[in-house]
Amino acid sequence: MKLPFKTLDDVETKGKRVLVRVDINCSVDPDTKKITNDSRIDAIVPTLKELSKSKVVLMAHQGRPGSNDFISLEQHTEILRGLGFNAAFVDDIFGDKAKAAIEKVQVGEILVLQNVRMFEGEMKKAPPDEVAKEAIVQELYPLFDLYVNDAFGAAHRSQASLVGFTTVLPSVAGRLVEKEIRILTEATATEKHPWILVFGGAKVADKVKTLGKLLATGRVDKALLGGLLGQLFLIAKGLIPIEYSTPIKGFKSAVETAKQLLEKYPDILILPEDAAVERGGKRVECAFNEMNGDPFLDIGPITASEYTRMIIGAAVVFGNGPQGYFEKKPFAKGTISILSAIAECEGVTVVGGGHLSAMAINEGFADRISHISTGGGATINFLTGKKLDLVVALEEAARRMG
Ligand code: 3PG
Repeated sequence: MKLPFKTLDDVETKGKRVLVRVDINCSVDPDTKKITNDSRIDAIVPTLKELSKSKVVLMAHQGRPGSNDFISLEQHTEILRGLGFNAAFVDDIFGDKAKAAIEKVQVGEILVLQNVRMFEGEMKKAPPDEVAKEAIVQELYPLFDLYVNDAFGAAHRSQASLVGFTTVLPSVAGRLVEKEIRILTEATATEKHPWILVFGGAKVADKVKTLGKLLATGRVDKALLGGLLGQLFLIAKGLIPIEYSTPIKGFKSAVETAKQLLEKYPDILILPEDAAVERGGKRVECAFNEMNGDPFLDIGPITASEYTRMIIGAAVVFGNGPQGYFEKKPFAKGTISILSAIAECEGVTVVGGGHLSAMAINEGFADRISHISTGGGATINFLTGKKLDLVVALEEAARRMG
């Protein structure tokens, strides 16, 4: 398969100053702030190994401003050291401190810059030419010979560190971006049905919009919903009280979209039928009319067995986002049963998203799933058929490079 952008095969990297944007956005324990799964760091190892004769500077984000996983990249640097890389961290992104540290990087060394989302301009989403005007790009690009983007998980975000540099530096995809695009292109080429999406997790406002685009392609036979996303649709349908909207960010507009989707796709959207709530510190499984306002933290057993039946009989399954509050062990049960069904399915199976992929690996399902994608939103956006922003930017860069 010929890729529409350049890769590490097309450029000389030896001795060069290489700026590498990766997605090492990891699951973080909300209380201790410690990284609980580093599979996204493992996933960038092939690219870093290939750059072992270059002077490498890594740029990445972790969480979003205000979220409980919005932390520094120090721990990520320690993990890289544990993997055998000569990595150092600087608590700066593009100021004097960062520039001085970048100047000192030698061949075989990796310097990790601070979480790029600590720079406000990084949160702006706009076309590459526009985000290229942000200080992060203007201050950093003169210090490099080459830009490598290996941040597949954030490939749907048109932000400065992800697409801005492609307008001012020779730019290529890293090995992970290359691999994900190849595998997902093959996995989506199949015309087999039933085609099932198992969609859960938080980031509800983003997800409900992407779900609408994906359903419009006509590709999905059933979308099994869970997590906060499932909760949104249950409220939209009047099956659980509006009080359950409290943990859903952007609820007001998301619920309107959910109502429209329910009207348009009543037979495709499948909602949970029962719940697991937290009562007296314990998991209690019950019907919706028995929840008594207790936190709804997982799908119940009736839902899990119905979802399992549909998943096992599918020709294609894409799973994205957990079904419940998996960080609390008793409430990981629904997600684990869904992963187990995906592993049992004999069709093409893809699991994506930081949390669900991490769980698939931790719980030992990975070798029975066709592909564990590092992308969550990126993978779902890929499925809608719209070209990912990162791919568009790298294609444009390839044209400029000739
Ligand atoms: C992800 O975890 O999906 C990526 O790292 C992108 O994160 P974002 O949705 O906060 O942009």
